[in-house]
Amino acid sequence: MIPDKAPGEDVFHAGGDLKKEAHVPSFEKYKEMYMKSIENPDEFWGDISKDFFWKTKHTGQFLDYNFDVTKGEIFIKCMEGATTNICYNLLDRNVHEKKLGDKIAFYWEGNEPGDEMTVTYRELLQQVCKFANVLKSQGVKKGDRVSIYMPMVVELVVAMLACVRIGAVHSIVFAGFSAESLCERILDSQCSLLITADGFYRGDKLINLKVIADDALQKCRDKGLPVKRCIMLKHLSKEEAAAPGSQSPPAKRPCPDLQQEKQKERVKRVRPVPQVTWNPDVDLCWHTLMDGVAEECEPVWCDSEDPLFILYTSGSTGKPKGVLHTVSGYMLYAATTFKLVFDYQPSDVYWCTADIGWITGHSYITYGPLANGATSVLFEGLPTYPEVSRMWEIVDKYHVTKFYTAPTAIRLLMKYGSDPVQKCKRDSLKVLGTVGEPINPEAWQWYYTVVGERRCPVVDTFWQTETGGHVLTPLPAATPMKPGSATFPFFGVVPAILNESGEELEGPSEGYLVFKQPWPGVMRTVYGNHPRFETTYFKKFPGYYVTGDGCRRDKDGYYWITGRIDDMLNVSGQLVEHGAVAEAAVVGRPHPVKGESLYCFVTLNEGIGYSRTLEAELKQQVREKIGAIATPDYIQSAPGLPKTRSGKIMRRVLRKIACNERDLGDVSTLADTSVIEQLFQNRCCTAV
Ligand code: PRX
Repeated sequence: MIPDKAPGEDVFHAGGDLKKEAHVPSFEKYKEMYMKSIENPDEFWGDISKDFFWKTKHTGQFLDYNFDVTKGEIFIKCMEGATTNICYNLLDRNVHEKKLGDKIAFYWEGNEPGDEMTVTYRELLQQVCKFANVLKSQGVKKGDRVSIYMPMVVELVVAMLACVRIGAVHSIVFAGFSAESLCERILDSQCSLLITADGFYRGDKLINLKVIADDALQKCRDKGLPVKRCIMLKHLSKEEAAAPGSQSPPAKRPCPDLQQEKQKERVKRVRPVPQVTWNPDVDLCWHTLMDGVAEECEPVWCDSEDPLFILYTSGSTGKPKGVLHTVSGYMLYAATTFKLVFDYQPSDVYWCTADIGWITGHSYITYGPLANGATSVLFEGLPTYPEVSRMWEIVDKYHVTKFYTAPTAIRLLMKYGSDPVQKCKRDSLKVLGTVGEPINPEAWQWYYTVVGERRCPVVDTFWQTETGGHVLTPLPAATPMKPGSATFPFFGVVPAILNESGEELEGPSEGYLVFKQPWPGVMRTVYGNHPRFETTYFKKFPGYYVTGDGCRRDKDGYYWITGRIDDMLNVSGQLVEHGAVAEAAVVGRPHPVKGESLYCFVTLNEGIGYSRTLEAELKQQVREKIGAIATPDYIQSAPGLPKTRSGKIMRRVLRKIACNERDLGDVSTLADTSVIEQLFQNRCCTAV
């Protein structure tokens, strides 16, 4: 599956300077460790787990599971019998055992340049203990769900880890979501408490977060779930005195929670402060609650498979799924992927630009870095505010060594050319990462050449909310890179490519990306709906976890993600709903800005001619039924589709046509090759 030797051609070699101290310094070492992780997971993960604190040790095998719906219920259990607390491992262990109390956990960089603050491991531990005591005083217990709807501030990390400390389950909702989305998520996980903030700035735009949160809470009440308490952090509000008996929240304390000196460092904003609506029956002020609270809080010891957090993921259809992760497996996996994929070293300053409201922020801002005692940048703002060079200025300001962002951000910055990048030094950078969607080779090249000056390996990390951590990824000092490929599996992960009939394909091939066995960080269920978990991920191909992504494996064994299969199937499903369409197929075609565009082939019913009006109708129909995100970019009228003799549409061939690539590979199974030339001749060159 993994080649014996790293391929020598068409590849960019892994980081030379990193090799000296890297955890995985060569492809041979990667392969050796990979084989051990598959053949002897107990020993592989057992060694890793020794670095963590366990109140009681696990008994039995490291992983126990059933991935086959035909053999009974799907389950995954990791380290059964062990008890631990993740907050203890992230903070107490680092402060007391590793003596990292004075090390900076986060450089917080606000939306406005100059608005900044630092937090050490010791300070973070103290804040988390205090807020955990606050949660306890509000009646929050082990297993209760707490919803968090906050901007990118240190207190967001404090809130999440305070939940973890007392065994409560956090459900973080991205602060860009609407009141409806927040309400839907609170209802689904039956949260008893909401933590939010007054508001925040995204670039120039003020977001009145508390107003949106109140709207959501009203919606919850209307639907029969009164959320008992809402704790509001004053992130932007002025320090003014509240009139006695007034309905407004108490004024911000001059010395709230994080050290007074540090608060002074923060720039006084002159811009409008948010409107704050206040409901005295429900609302509580973060700062008032924290005042005088005890600084010690015993962690609650949790079982390995106790729930840790719920994070909602929305596909293109259906209501969002509450992806549930559990304690021990997630901790080990987030920590290990962070350490090895970014080749974390104690002197690093790491920066992940994601929001904590997404899984990337959960695993690679909070859990992974803190588990390793890392120093990270926590950035509240936007990549291009107030200047398009903001990111690189931050890199220079904090001497960032490992940088992790998304292809969309790279493509956005690429549009402004290399000047804004080159006016900053960036000489601290060592590893660049990307996540979230396939990275088109042009963007990869720009990232590698302009940003990293050919010195920094690019780790293109493929994973999902469901996988908890990276599952296909290069390792920076070990894996030769191919621009646009997520390369090879991480330790413990066994990928396969299946065809439509569920047969495993060998060698170069394209089809459904699946995984054959669990790794510690894989999700355990859809919260409150185990049947939906089984149907979504395990029913189509019994025995496998189905990612929903299409994937190609090349001659060297490299994996290339081709896009969400369900999106494409949904779009083609909608197209054939139209009376004029007999058959449709949709493929992804690389797009310079969006990354991937939807290229649709439609075969019309007898006697119907293709027209601009029909094209507009088809586009409109998909947009209305699925949403703007799924709107076709190209629609091509196709007299017939390339099919195998058994009638299966050869999407691989369609993708080549969409990209105007004449090298079709093996087409010997095609029933009728004449259709191909016609399709090439009628290709769409401009988007509809
Ligand atoms: O389609 C894949 C794409 O993002 C999906 C997962 O989205 P989400 O759960 O929101 O998590 C995003 C951050 C992990 C995948 O099913 N995706 C993610 N990373 C990559 C990717 N596609 C290609 N290459 C990647 N590196």
